Amino acid sequence: MRKLHRSLSVAWALSFFLFSPVFGQTKIQRTPQNIDSEGHQWWQHAVFYEIYPRSFADSNNDGVGDLNGIASKLDYLKDLGVDAIWITPCYPSPQVDFGYDVSDYENIDPMYGTLKDFDQLSSQAKKRGIRIIMDFVMNHTSDQHKWFLDSRSSKTSAYRNWYVWRDGKAENQPPNNWVALFGGPAWKLDPKTGQYYYHYFYPEQPDLNWRNPAIKNAMFDVTRWWYKRGVAGFRLDAVDTLYEDPKLHDNPVLGGKNRYGDPNEENKYNLKLPEIHNVLRDLRKVADENGAVLVGETWTSDLAELERYYGAHNDEIQLPMDFLFGYVNKLSPLEFRKQIAAAESVHGWPVYVISNHDIVRSYVRYGDGAHNDAIAKLMAGLYLTLRGTPILYYGEEIGMENNNPVRVEDVKDPIGKLGWPQDKGRDGERTPMQWNNSANAGFSTAKPWLPVPQSYQTHNVATETKDPNSVLQFYRHLLALRHTSRALLDGNYIPLNENDPNVLSYLRQYKDETVLVVLNMSGVEQKVSFDLTQQGLSNAKTATLLTILSTHPDQPALTGITLEPFAVYIAKVSGASKTNN
Ligand code: GLC
Repeated sequence: MRKLHRSLSVAWALSFFLFSPVFGQTKIQRTPQNIDSEGHQWWQHAVFYEIYPRSFADSNNDGVGDLNGIASKLDYLKDLGVDAIWITPCYPSPQVDFGYDVSDYENIDPMYGTLKDFDQLSSQAKKRGIRIIMDFVMNHTSDQHKWFLDSRSSKTSAYRNWYVWRDGKAENQPPNNWVALFGGPAWKLDPKTGQYYYHYFYPEQPDLNWRNPAIKNAMFDVTRWWYKRGVAGFRLDAVDTLYEDPKLHDNPVLGGKNRYGDPNEENKYNLKLPEIHNVLRDLRKVADENGAVLVGETWTSDLAELERYYGAHNDEIQLPMDFLFGYVNKLSPLEFRKQIAAAESVHGWPVYVISNHDIVRSYVRYGDGAHNDAIAKLMAGLYLTLRGTPILYYGEEIGMENNNPVRVEDVKDPIGKLGWPQDKGRDGERTPMQWNNSANAGFSTAKPWLPVPQSYQTHNVATETKDPNSVLQFYRHLLALRHTSRALLDGNYIPLNENDPNVLSYLRQYKDETVLVVLNMSGVEQKVSFDLTQQGLSNAKTATLLTILSTHPDQPALTGITLEPFAVYIAKVSGASKTNN
């Protein structure tokens, strides 16, 4: 495990208070349609927070989190600055893929509570102005879903065509060479009818047949059902997997084996088929009728792909999560600049994610083992100050680290069992939220379904709330600043000093409000200067809004700004003569 040190004695909390008089007057007026007076949608100004319900808070002490647990933490979330929570699947499920194998879309798994609990959570959240986003697993159901049980019962079942059934190519040979993402062939022989069904993920997750119009009707009705219950939108799971080539052409084989020992192949015929966009456009219509937002799990390999997910007329997914930052695993201003420029170049509203339940926690990906807390603040300083909607994974705000299993027998995630030891699965990033320094980090009095890392003793909500220099307090102050700064909410992104290999700097500019963000991504002190004449600002002065600089918290000018290792410096640029816009 990484060693954690708090090496910086920081004074940012003091400087933070400078921000209130600066933006104190900003009042962001909203109409009942959730659009502000300047046309911004609520989700453009919102901070989203991803909750993995198994791991957030356990109200009935059975070792697994639940909805009442989430409800009990709403004040914490409100205080943090969260506007919407995305709850990963909490529907009835055999839990083979921990909820991503849904056996009933219109209910709550008893382990998480009841629909009544959901309604209570929803009304409690509403009181606090927090919206709920549900996870919509569109590509597949559980093999225990009543649709699939019926479908597999006979070739003449009314539900047969709801899934993708085919004869084998020959005796004991699947219909084609497609490989499942989670290992082995993507086809499973069902002895009862002698046909194979298709599953892109685990065999327990048979793919729905989106070429059958009945699927669209049934699944769209699911969204309507939840909209009626008050949900504000959906996160669309694995959208790129919805369609398969009806002729089932073999995928091109690329040579070599993947980490599960299967042949590498290009997913030419079973991923990202153009038909997906028809579904997304229609799903968006239903969302629009209900004033809802669609967030997409959209793994894109280039900008054209990302662009397509927004829709040619911005009529598909409002918030496709592009994971551009998910691919950057080092503190590299160059890499981040490239990814921000990419997100900025598309015609839709950007989304920023640095971690989630499938990605190793940012604390580990970027941490150097000696300055992890400073680096956690630095990363917050980045993704919470960019133009776009940030999606914060639970625990990022307290510097939670991965707690990977060390023995294969402890692994819960099936891909970790299969891929061991090369791929230890995703348990490490899904461990219980760390609430305090009591046993099991205050998550539960019972043994939690996954163990908490030792670092819970220092990295937990209670301890960090008392420490003005903690990662949590930095998140709180930064989110408060973000919510009251028009420049941070809506301002243009203007990169500065683009050749600097150590310091990432940019302006956020909205009308007459300008905010400067400076992030020292290196472990050594840096001095930076900015010439903003090109940006239409001359003779500018700066006023610190938020910083973790301890030795030089006040940097009144744009020249010779001294930045400690991994420092964040956010300032209002003022007193400038604005020469253009
Ligand atoms: C998505 C989810 C992941 C799940 C998979 C299959 O990628 O984020 O956790 O295993 O879909 O549903």
